[in-house]
Amino acid sequence: MERWQNQYIAKVKTHPRIMEEGDEGFDLSAVLEFKAFKKQYPQVAVELGSGSGMHLLQLATKSPEALFVGFELRYKRAFRTIEKGEKKDLTNIFMIRGDARRITELFSPRELSALYIHFPDPWEKHRWRKNRLIQDGFLSELTELLQEGGRLSFRTDHQEYFSAAVKVIERSGHFVRESYTENLVETEGESYHPSSEFEALFVSQGLRICSSIFRRTTGATEAPGANFPTSPEV
Ligand SMILES: C[S@@+](CC[C@H](N)C(=O)[O-])C[C@H]1O[C@@H](n2cnc3c(N)ncnc32)[C@H](O)[C@@H]1O
Repeated sequence: MERWQNQYIAKVKTHPRIMEEGDEGFDLSAVLEFKAFKKQYPQVAVELGSGSGMHLLQLATKSPEALFVGFELRYKRAFRTIEKGEKKDLTNIFMIRGDARRITELFSPRELSALYIHFPDPWEKHRWRKNRLIQDGFLSELTELLQEGGRLSFRTDHQEYFSAAVKVIERSGHFVRESYTENLVETEGESYHPSSEFEALFVSQGLRICSSIFRRTTGATEAPGANFPTSPEV
């Protein structure tokens, strides 16, 4: 009997705009090439768990001078993102088909102008929570990568994960909250439009979208800002 093969594995492995995490991690020469490639951009932003790429593509269209890098575990989603970008003639998108928790292998301290974590898997059961992306250890790695003034955007339909993540981010002492809502659709009113595939799905199911944007500070405590924009610019 013939074994089923994911057709996207081969496509990902051979695409010059996708780097793959293999069984032994990243290939050293691919890492060096990627590091040289991103040097041509004055600003670099990263989305962790970028799914099928709708949000990354919107950002790349809006800011052609910046580079947008997505981390995505699924081959098909990583490939489709790049494919959609090519159809729009976007050259400022790069995908990492791999685990977002390896981000420090690819970026230097203070390199990133923005980090997006939108609709990450909530790992609902208590015993699975250690798998969540937002927790103290990983957040401190992400904090190192963000420039001072860089933005961290967190969005989810999962109320409990939202409260827990906001607590983790705020107690780190390295961020000031710029915006916060537990009902994005209501907050944005007529100007609201879903930013991603999963956001559109959750809104269509009647779920509330929680969203918060934080600005990286030097670490000294600052009073939360009042009139910051609700969507982060890189
Ligand atoms: C619920 S989906 C949200 C996708 C997208 N952000 C959106 O809003 O449409 C979560 C995505 O994160 C990816 N993912 C989960 N854990 C990951 C990890 N550790 N590294 C990279 N991607 C991950 C999943 O494969 C999935 O595509």
